[in-house]
Amino acid sequence: MSGNFRKTVFITGASSGIGKIASLYLCEKGYKVIGSSRKLGRLEALATEANKTRERFFPIELDINLKNGEPGCIEEVLPTLIDQHNSIDVLVNNAGYGLWGPLESISVSEMEDQFKTNVFAPFRLSKLLISNMRERGYGRIINISSVAGWVATPFNGAYASSKFALEAQTEALRMELWPFGVTVSSIQPGLFDTDFQSNMVQGMDAESEELPYKNLINRYRRKHKKWRKVIHDPIRIAKLIERIIESDRPRLRYPIGFEARAGILGSKIFPERIYQWMISRTSM
Ligand SMILES: NC(=O)c1ccc[n+]([C@@H]2O[C@H](COP(=O)([O-])OP(=O)(O)OC[C@H]3O[C@@H](n4cnc5c(N)ncnc54)[C@H](OP(=O)(O)O)[C@@H]3O)[C@@H](O)[C@H]2O)c1
Repeated sequence: MSGNFRKTVFITGASSGIGKIASLYLCEKGYKVIGSSRKLGRLEALATEANKTRERFFPIELDINLKNGEPGCIEEVLPTLIDQHNSIDVLVNNAGYGLWGPLESISVSEMEDQFKTNVFAPFRLSKLLISNMRERGYGRIINISSVAGWVATPFNGAYASSKFALEAQTEALRMELWPFGVTVSSIQPGLFDTDFQSNMVQGMDAESEELPYKNLINRYRRKHKKWRKVIHDPIRIAKLIERIIESDRPRLRYPIGFEARAGILGSKIFPERIYQWMISRTSM
């Protein structure tokens, strides 16, 4: 479909974690990968590794949060990329971060930033690629969501709100595009071994003395330490992405990691009140 490559894949947030591992894995498997980061330098090591024997990884500097009209924004860069590479067969909306803190403490601008990266950027990128995919009768849009896109936990309300929104986007877009051969899926990871936790942004007022959450936050931290021991290798997500690309009929959602599967299953089988109590008890 794309020269000598199996397909052309565009992955946002390729500089670290899931995006980096998936880029390298897909290059090794014969795909052409265009990977973005806000800083080109962060993609250097990956490009060197991926391009040892042949140019397969194409790094680009792209800040997915720049407003439409600003130099270097998505709307300016994407059409050029499509022209350069003839087509983009697969979009992996991976770039994202977690905003942490009691919802009462989160400012509107912090919440807006969370949505800009985790919701609006995937929306804008998908919009820009849909017509090209539709014209060719093939396309895969894969949104890296989270178990938090299905189950919200205390102090992760901002992040969960953004991933719930991404889930809704995935669900509606999937139905709109399947008549045209373009499929949309979400991957809902549990806890994976990346820089996600260390890159987590804490709301400015998350631990404000003027708010009454101190004890609950301390309890949350103690419990969370135990959960952090449960981490999986992101290569599993890279392999799943390949499976989705090659599947004739990809599913809507792919929970991955036992805690993600258990969390989602629990929300379906337990009565709401009991499930909320369980989540609350395991979180703080
Ligand atoms: N790791 C987990 O346990 C886990 C669980 C569930 C879901 N996820 C999801 O998986 C995706 C990838 O995360 P990861 O675990 O690989 O974390 P990571 O190691 O922190 O990597 C995040 C990537 O996203 C980009 N990014 C981060 N903040 C950004 C921002 N404000 N604006 C634009 N780009 C930004 C970064 O690129 P640059 O900084 O180079 O631009 C980086 O390459 C995210 O959407 C995350 O929500 C992760």
